[in-house]
Amino acid sequence: MSDLARELKASIRTIPDYPKPGVLFRDITTLLGQPRAFRRAVDELVHPYAGDNIAKIAGIEARGFILGGAIAHQLSAGFVPIRKKGKLPHETVRIAYSLEYGVDEMEMHRDAVKPGERVLLVDDLIATGGTAEGAVKLLQQMGAEVIAACFVIDLPDLGGRAKIEALNVPVRTLMSFEGH
Ligand code: PRP
Ligand code: MG
Repeated sequence: MSDLARELKASIRTIPDYPKPGVLFRDITTLLGQPRAFRRAVDELVHPYAGDNIAKIAGIEARGFILGGAIAHQLSAGFVPIRKKGKLPHETVRIAYSLEYGVDEMEMHRDAVKPGERVLLVDDLIATGGTAEGAVKLLQQMGAEVIAACFVIDLPDLGGRAKIEALNVPVRTLMSFEGH
């Protein structure tokens, strides 16, 4: 692991038994609160796509908004919020997605991406991949070319990466935590 990867990983706080017993919650607020770590995480997420003609960053509510906004600024791209249902005021497209227990729905504005636009999907963490899979499907349904999905944290034991790669979208993560 590089010094940078080690430094970023050390900036993540782990909270045992949250939100329920047996779960180790990987908390990015400690990364966000350290100026150097936040800056470097954003830089690291951005650099493969510099000059790559990305039209839009799609960020997944809520934690994907924080990183996605910063990345959009760095890449001089637009930002598309993918929101939990009922929050967007204009005409939307909606999709059901699976959570660890049960399902929920997310949506985006119907006019948020144009067919053929190159979009980078951003979230803080990929676990089962259900959330990111829903977001990719929504963007692809609207004709976007989802060129990659990037995350700070991968929980590889939960198998999310394969779900996204099955949709022909490469996945990039900055660190992984074994176990969950
Ligand atoms: C967390 C995390 C990812 C998602 C990953 O969000 O921020 O968006 O879960 O899980 P998955 O890969 O198993 O789908 P959460 O739904 O807890 O909400 P938040 O971002 O609004 O806090
Ligand atoms: Mg989230």
